[in-house]
Amino acid sequence: MKRREENETKSAVANNTESVQKNTRNNGPVFFVEEPKYTLDDIILPSNVKEQILDVADYAHNSKVVFEDWGLEITHKYSKRMGINLYGPSGTGKTMAAHAIANYLGRKILIVNYADLESKYVGETPKNIRKAFQTAKDTHSVIFFDEADAILSRRVTNMSNATDVSVNQTRSVMLMLLNDYQDFIIFATNFIENFDSAFMRRISRHIRFELPDYECRVKLWQNYIPYKMPNNIDIKKLSTDYDGLSGSDIENAVLMAAFKSARHRDRFVSHDYVEEVVQGILKSKNENKKEMVVTKKRVVSEEYAKKQMEKSN
Ligand SMILES: Nc1ncnc2c1ncn2[C@@H]1O[C@H](COP(=O)(O)OP(=O)(O)O)[C@@H](O)[C@H]1O
Ligand SMILES: [Mg+2]
Repeated sequence: MKRREENETKSAVANNTESVQKNTRNNGPVFFVEEPKYTLDDIILPSNVKEQILDVADYAHNSKVVFEDWGLEITHKYSKRMGINLYGPSGTGKTMAAHAIANYLGRKILIVNYADLESKYVGETPKNIRKAFQTAKDTHSVIFFDEADAILSRRVTNMSNATDVSVNQTRSVMLMLLNDYQDFIIFATNFIENFDSAFMRRISRHIRFELPDYECRVKLWQNYIPYKMPNNIDIKKLSTDYDGLSGSDIENAVLMAAFKSARHRDRFVSHDYVEEVVQGILKSKNENKKEMVVTKKRVVSEEYAKKQMEKSN
């Protein structure tokens, strides 16, 4: 196999995201639009966060009337674009929310991951980004940059290797295309402390996702324990005794405890099993935290976001 083809095949294998398939003849990634998988009713969030989501979704909804039907897109050429950034710890429902917003707008969603954009070939990455935007435009879908930390963080100044150069290139092109793109766009990030101020200027709304509080934990446990599953789980006790769990952790804990019970041929899923699983999840989370001392200080704060925005205006 020729080296070029070999590389192309490798990158195709490396890229296993659902929404994208690499064409081995190097036509770049193909972006697929999807029907949104979640609705706003599926997400359990404190009411103020839900309100903020509804608020941006309504704004986007009304944008169609104002800009398209009433023609303000001609008179207010550069006001139409609206960027929103969903940020906060992983597993708190950011990806879900992006789907739910698209669903609320009655539009499909085009999910772009950083890995889809990166290309080993010099000059291909800008082409890929352009293609993503073009596909969203052609299909009238909501473009969603999931896990966009790499794209949105500050530009690398001491470019020590090819990856840094490539990340910078991706960012510059993103900024340029963002300027021209006059539609709703969603980002999801786990950190924003390293945000590039040029991006902050172009993203007008930031919605913070937190780990669920007691009330949300109760709802999450209720939501993810099916009524058909025999169990003696004390949801109130679990919600009181264990904070620090994300929605995703709670979903997983139920699943893992159910399988454990099934494996042991138990008649019901016991509270103790769930506790055991939860403790395991929390332990591994803490261990990861310790290992990632560097990222620990990149705690997301609204004040920081505001400051960055002010700085850039
Ligand atoms: N707030 C939530 N409400 C209901 N389910 C949730 C919530 N957060 C996470 N989940 C569950 O965990 C899974 C992963 O959540 P996801 O939206 O991918 O989190 P994030 O994008 O913030 O990392 C979801 O598919 C859902 O099953
Ligand atoms: Mg996600």
